[in-house]
Amino acid sequence: MRVLQVKEVTHSYGRRKWLGRSELRPPVLSGVSLTIESGFCLGLLGTSGAGKSTLGKVILGLEKPQKGQVLFQGQDIYHGSTQVRRELRRDMQVVFQDCYSAVNPRMTAGQIIGEPLDNYERLSVQEQKRTVENLLERVGLRPEDRNKFPHQFSGGQLQRINIARAIALKPKLIVLDESVSSLDMVHQMHILSLLGELKSSLGLSYLFITHDIRAAYTVCDGIAVMEQGELIEYCDDKDGIFESIHPAVQRLIASILPEHPADRLPS
Ligand SMILES: Nc1ncnc2c1ncn2[C@@H]1O[C@H](COP(=O)(O)OP(=O)(O)OP(=O)(O)O)[C@@H](O)[C@H]1O
Ligand SMILES: [Mg+2]
Repeated sequence: MRVLQVKEVTHSYGRRKWLGRSELRPPVLSGVSLTIESGFCLGLLGTSGAGKSTLGKVILGLEKPQKGQVLFQGQDIYHGSTQVRRELRRDMQVVFQDCYSAVNPRMTAGQIIGEPLDNYERLSVQEQKRTVENLLERVGLRPEDRNKFPHQFSGGQLQRINIARAIALKPKLIVLDESVSSLDMVHQMHILSLLGELKSSLGLSYLFITHDIRAAYTVCDGIAVMEQGELIEYCDDKDGIFESIHPAVQRLIASILPEHPADRLPS
């Protein structure tokens, strides 16, 4: 089943004054189309400024595009009733790169994870506590961690709390925007394997936005590449990316460092 369909989306950020006239800024997304099936993880790669985060915001309903459509489970996210849009928001969650700024430093982990439950579910105090503790265990933390504040966690642990919050309402799609980029390699690998495990156990779909082709290859089923607001490559099977003849994709592939340091030296 199709979870997400992005159809010919074009978007620019506001207007600018130019020679005394006001005109739309040049588009940062031009005619972008993609599809994500249920249980599928699509990696979205591209250099800085390519438009990846903007596309993520358009998909999340945060930035209405000038042209095109975003269909989530077959429904246009920009044209439904308020109630429909509220329900769609529940099924679509996001995890950003900066785990510290994504949380309120004065809230405990339990309150952070419990926030979406407060907004959408009517649980008793005991049920909420049990649900939060289960979620903490699910992401590899301890139930008693619910009483700790953000500054008492490492970056990797705090990102697990952000992931626990994102899965609290059992969403269908999670947009992961550079979610592992600020972590060291060891924590990156732990979070990537956690994401892989959650994807299969909860039947989640991901849009995995990254600069890092290795991280994308580790966790994704398919890979798409953006450049200057356009989708220049789209492979349902991630291995297809290595067949691409597009120079920007070849540059991305060439940027992968060989695993052994000795092989990284110029010959
Ligand atoms: N709120 C905004 N207002 C105006 N321009 C913006 C805004 N957000 C992004 N842009 C511009 O849109 C373009 C695409 O930005 P975007 O953040 O989507 O790129 P990106 O691919 O996510 O880059 P990065 O890999 O650095 O995160 C850039 O030229 C950026 O300057
Ligand atoms: Mg970005």
